[in-house]
Amino acid sequence: MVPNRQVESVISLLRERNLLVDGYRITQSNNGTARLIPVSFSNKDNFSPIFDDYELVEREGESDNRIDSDWWSHLADLIDQETIDEFGDSWPNAHEFIGDMMILRIEDAIKDYKEQIALAKLTAHPHIRLVLEDEGVFGEFRIRKLTPLGARANDKILTSNIPVELSHTRVVVKESGRHIICDPTRAYYSTKLQTERLETLAYAKELRKEIGEPLRVCDPFCGVGPALAYLIGEDGLIGDILAADLNPDAAEIMIENFSKWDRTEYEFTGELKRYSETRLLGVGDATRLSENENLIGNWNLILMNLPHRTIDFLPNIVPLLDRSKVSMIRGRVVVKESEIAEANASIVAALPPLLENKPLPELRIKRDYSASLRLCSFEAWIAPMD
Ligand SMILES: C[S@@+](CC[C@H](N)C(=O)[O-])C[C@H]1O[C@@H](n2cnc3c(N)ncnc32)[C@H](O)[C@@H]1O
Repeated sequence: MVPNRQVESVISLLRERNLLVDGYRITQSNNGTARLIPVSFSNKDNFSPIFDDYELVEREGESDNRIDSDWWSHLADLIDQETIDEFGDSWPNAHEFIGDMMILRIEDAIKDYKEQIALAKLTAHPHIRLVLEDEGVFGEFRIRKLTPLGARANDKILTSNIPVELSHTRVVVKESGRHIICDPTRAYYSTKLQTERLETLAYAKELRKEIGEPLRVCDPFCGVGPALAYLIGEDGLIGDILAADLNPDAAEIMIENFSKWDRTEYEFTGELKRYSETRLLGVGDATRLSENENLIGNWNLILMNLPHRTIDFLPNIVPLLDRSKVSMIRGRVVVKESEIAEANASIVAALPPLLENKPLPELRIKRDYSASLRLCSFEAWIAPMD
């Protein structure tokens, strides 16, 4: 949040440091005396000292259609204006960038124009290699169904017979100054969780202060490991890490990521394996980790990012907490807005006694999941056992 009169200069500073985020609007603060400038956390190391003077506000971004104005003009070269007007808001203005890929949803009404959409988007975004249609996230592994619509081959744009070397979905993204390998068609990954990961980092620091020693962190639904990428960047914050996922592809990529981050070659074995004193990584079923005696009572911070199952799985996860000290579970939950109070009660009922001087775990709505469902987060401070 930047006072109105400083907006211009802060924007140029942010631009210089590559911190401005594409595709979102600069909006007014609630009282109109300041502006909210959308910032990218991928180059977090470049923040200081700019951010020391300004308040960081967390808010859902508003898409900036003007930024994509180019795509409209390219679309108008390919489709007559009458047709463009006819389908109005159905045209895909919003999109997600993952590495050099652009992912967008195509409504049924305009499905006959996929080729023109891909051509217009690729022409408007010259740094993009591949445009993919997002058909949603499926199954217990939360894998994304993506269909290539168009790709850039040197100076040509292809919308059919796209060769494998151009249509691959394995990319490297940069978050919090760290490279993360991901492939959303093999393992869950979303750029939209960056703020969530920063929040997790802030809570981890708070917990670290309470405990007075590096945290043992368990991420039993770790995907390719993006939440951990933030935590391991802080000196002295984390001791041991347990990172597991039921999806072998996710675990394999996560282990590749740790190999890069730790500059040590960890071989993927398909099992949960102790690679070092501080790395227990691999394939694992979160619901069964507490069957392993060595894992019970060992972890100060547990992350639960499987929003459809978090509440059901809490009883399986709680025994993993180290109850000799304060501990924390941070989770995400999908719930009907009308049932949030009930869900809060179920969370508290499934947890051991809570820490008295901290707020109770309460679901905070992060965004709409569907017309009636909301994606929420909570954090629960658990009291040590007497
Ligand atoms: C929503 S994704 C979150 C991934 C990661 N934490 C992130 O933020 O990118 C949920 C993950 O849980 C994994 N999963 C589903 N059921 C599981 C289980 N029983 N045990 C362990 N992992 C599971 C899925 O494969 C998926 O990678």
